[in-house]
Amino acid sequence: MQLQNNISLKPYNTFGIDVNAKFFTEVSSEENLKEVLSHFKNESKLILGGGSNILFTKNFEGVAIKNNFKGIELINEDPNFFYVNAAAGEVWHEFVLHCINNNYAGIENLSLIPGCVGASPMQNIGAYGVEIKDTFHSLEAIHIQELTKKTFTKEACKFGYRESIFKHEVKNEFVITSVTFRLNKQPTFNTSYGAIEQELEKMKITIPSIKAISEAVCAIRRSKLPDPKKIGNAGSFFKNPEVSSQLVEIIKQKHPSVPAYPLENGHYKLAAGWLIEQAGWKGKIINNYGVHKDQALVLVNYGGASGIDIYNLSQQILDSVSDKFGVLLEREVNIL
Ligand code: FAD
Ligand code: EPU
Repeated sequence: MQLQNNISLKPYNTFGIDVNAKFFTEVSSEENLKEVLSHFKNESKLILGGGSNILFTKNFEGVAIKNNFKGIELINEDPNFFYVNAAAGEVWHEFVLHCINNNYAGIENLSLIPGCVGASPMQNIGAYGVEIKDTFHSLEAIHIQELTKKTFTKEACKFGYRESIFKHEVKNEFVITSVTFRLNKQPTFNTSYGAIEQELEKMKITIPSIKAISEAVCAIRRSKLPDPKKIGNAGSFFKNPEVSSQLVEIIKQKHPSVPAYPLENGHYKLAAGWLIEQAGWKGKIINNYGVHKDQALVLVNYGGASGIDIYNLSQQILDSVSDKFGVLLEREVNIL
């Protein structure tokens, strides 16, 4: 076990927040992981992937464990599907590219989402009309206290919009070690969402392929979202809220152009970015942090901001959207 004491977590979170972990270690095998978990039985533990969905507001007074499990394997296939297992420490986008190169279809719309495979089920990552639950088969995880291995099926994960059982009932109880996806042999091209079709036209693609869709999604994302290597951020800071049809009607009276998408349950999904922009926050800069100029849903650290600064800004945004529209936003980013 290679252990470091009181090290900065700045390189391990895409917001670039400079806090310390009391202990830090990297694990690359189950044996390694179990050794660390039993050594630190009484300390609190933080499992780290790419750190792209975390806001640190204080030092972490326990052991931060960076998951470096590697390996991608085709474990089974039937006439319709490939069953592909990826270790938790694989970089998500590299896994997507591996699938595209092997003609395993279904996750191409999720190209370029930062982070690692192990975190992908945590919030059921989603983009451009696809979520991992659509191709998820199962995952394996180690219980942090008992050190036993458990398999979670898709039903057991209780996936929802940016939700899973790992954010609720079994929060902080398991380390996800690998995820198995059930990927399609016959692709169904999902091009209806957002600007994918326009982007394919721009690329002069007339017959789509999973590779072309991935490239289109990458181009759109690069044009809209700040690159965390250049500007600290964790993607969308808030979820898009679900509201009643009555509330949509009230908002429409003053703001006829409010983007509202009907859901199957009769409610509506509102665009949090729009609400935040209308509340006057888009592009706002406070010292060395603020709200991104092109995407109001993304809070940014221009360098040297603290997690508390960014958390307080998120609270001000929450309050002002609630005052203006009667909509309570919910944070998507994990606050630590
Ligand atoms: P981390 O930030 O390291 O961890 C996130 C949470 O999962 C933490 O609570 C951590 O303790 C826990 N965790 C991590 N690994 C494990 C494990 N192996 N076992 C148990 N717990 C674990 N998300 C989307 O859904 N869609 C998007 O389109 C999207 N776009 C983004 C764009 C940008 C520019 C950025 C910066 C972020 C974006 N995100 C998006 C958010 C983020 O990329 C995802 O949530 C991603 O899955 C986080 O992966 P990670 O490895 O960085 O997780
Ligand atoms: N909008 C504004 N102003 C803004 C930003 C957005 O008015 O500053 C409006 C847009 O005009 C559009 C709507 O909001 O009408 C939706 O915007 P966009 O397509 O950019 O997507 P989003 O809802 O802001 C969501 C996800 C992203 C995901 C994209 C693409 C959430 C919380 N966010 O963003 O996920 O990549 O759709 O599918 O669901 C993430 O989770 O970190 C993330 C980046």
